[in-house]
Amino acid sequence: MLAGGCFPPDAPLRGRPGPRRLPSPGRHTEPVPTDPSVFDNHLDSWEAYLATPWARVRYDVVGRILDETLAGLGAGPHPVLDLGGGDGVDSVRLAAAGHEVTIVDSSAGMLDRAAAVTDRDGVKSRVRTIEADLVGWEPDGPYDLVLCHFVLQYLPADRPALDVLRRAVRPGGAVSVICPNPVGDVMMAVRHDGDPALALRRLRGEPRRTVTFDHEVRPTPRVDTERGLVDAGFAVWRRVGLRAAVDLLPDGPSKDEPAGYPAILALERELAERAPYLDVARAWQLVAS
Ligand SMILES: C[S@@+](CC[C@H](N)C(=O)[O-])C[C@H]1O[C@@H](n2cnc3c(N)ncnc32)[C@H](O)[C@@H]1O
Repeated sequence: MLAGGCFPPDAPLRGRPGPRRLPSPGRHTEPVPTDPSVFDNHLDSWEAYLATPWARVRYDVVGRILDETLAGLGAGPHPVLDLGGGDGVDSVRLAAAGHEVTIVDSSAGMLDRAAAVTDRDGVKSRVRTIEADLVGWEPDGPYDLVLCHFVLQYLPADRPALDVLRRAVRPGGAVSVICPNPVGDVMMAVRHDGDPALALRRLRGEPRRTVTFDHEVRPTPRVDTERGLVDAGFAVWRRVGLRAAVDLLPDGPSKDEPAGYPAILALERELAERAPYLDVARAWQLVAS
């Protein structure tokens, strides 16, 4: 695994010297596969997370990027695959726009929630769910767009999932990958936890425990996944930072009141593709073909 996390948005990936690395992040833990029960047992905290303004920002910013990506692929509706799609927040939105979505996820609890939501939102006929571990799953595509959002950190390594992406997407189609940004985790240890020692340990590669699922996850530097995508035959053409600002807002009305949300979203959309903000955001998104 490569070190570091900051990567110039337009830096070439092949044939030139690699990006400058952060001071040695040192230890990354050994890979640990995540049991589906981790997700099944925390559906209530997942639901609580979905109600937060930072979750709303994540889905709203990503939703527009997915719309733009699909528009660039020609007239729809498009077949979309959502690997580790969970309860289908991204998928349901795409199905509501007319696309045909397949969610693959290993958590029965998450898929039960997806079934309930697709029913409630009247998109059941356009959303198919498959309960499976995505590693080893044989894609039945090809799909125009393949999503893998907030999943890689739960897997032992990127490569098996990136190979599934490669096999699932049609030539000329697109993939979208999102992961937590270890750079943002360092900044949040300072800003949110007020703990410089924790920040230093995270900088050196200490894994983070997720609040929502109470589970240790692998650090996922963007540069590593960029290189993995290139090695799997993709060209990365869009880099996005998610939650560059909302997590920095102090708790209170400006963050939590619905009336304040449009200003938050407008700021997030401005920062999402602007360096250096995108590089220090809480999560990164890569779009590749
Ligand atoms: C944090 S949730 C993200 C859900 C969704 N992609 C989103 O961004 O809203 C992670 C999801 O990945 C799924 N997952 C984790 N490891 C998986 C694996 N090996 N195969 C299939 N799904 C997996 C979990 O069951 C869970 O639903």
